[in-house]
Amino acid sequence: MAQDLLHQHEIQEVVRRAYSALPSGGGRAVVEKLYSPEELSGIPAGAIDWALGVGNPVRFAGLDVGEVVLDVGSGGGIDTILAARAIGPTGRAIGIDLLQEMCERAMAHAREAGVAGWTEFRRAEMEAISLADESVDVVISNGVINLSARKGRALAEIHRVLKPGGRLCVADLVVDDDLPPEVLTSDSAWAG
Ligand SMILES: C[S@@+](CC[C@H](N)C(=O)[O-])C[C@H]1O[C@@H](n2cnc3c(N)ncnc32)[C@H](O)[C@@H]1O
Repeated sequence: MAQDLLHQHEIQEVVRRAYSALPSGGGRAVVEKLYSPEELSGIPAGAIDWALGVGNPVRFAGLDVGEVVLDVGSGGGIDTILAARAIGPTGRAIGIDLLQEMCERAMAHAREAGVAGWTEFRRAEMEAISLADESVDVVISNGVINLSARKGRALAEIHRVLKPGGRLCVADLVVDDDLPPEVLTSDSAWAG
């Protein structure tokens, strides 16, 4: 397995700086490849503009009305809002993100989408999720776990907060080979 050559706090600082400095998200053209027009209908323009994911986890999560859903690394909130729509007001949608400004942006989008009553965003790290053990039915995540320098720790936290029989639906980037040192020490490779 590849060993990282940067320290964990350095990697988190690189990621924090990269995402704080972004002027906006990945662009509407990318979003329109990942989400159908029906899914995007009613999603605020800001949430679409700020989408930075690599897939569409909600489509595959099989969410039921009334479930508690956690979006790990919720960014501008597009998937949290889609999840909130699927579970309805008897459920609870929670997004966590490393950056307070992402949480505030996502909450504004949730208000605009009309799901704020059962949706919240908390500043938290995926390696230390501020939720009780066995409190979540479904964890979703989109393009986030690859950014962690402690992926095992992040997955252990996800396991801890999931109820027995809970589900995890992740879209992410993976490598199945050792990476060369120039990639392992590249700030832009870690953050991008
Ligand atoms: C590629 S973006 C994806 C955002 C969102 N899931 C989406 O699909 O638009 C990665 C997000 O993960 C957040 N993030 C990075 N490292 C994190 C960590 N250790 N804990 C929680 N969130 C983190 C970033 O602040 C950023 O909002």
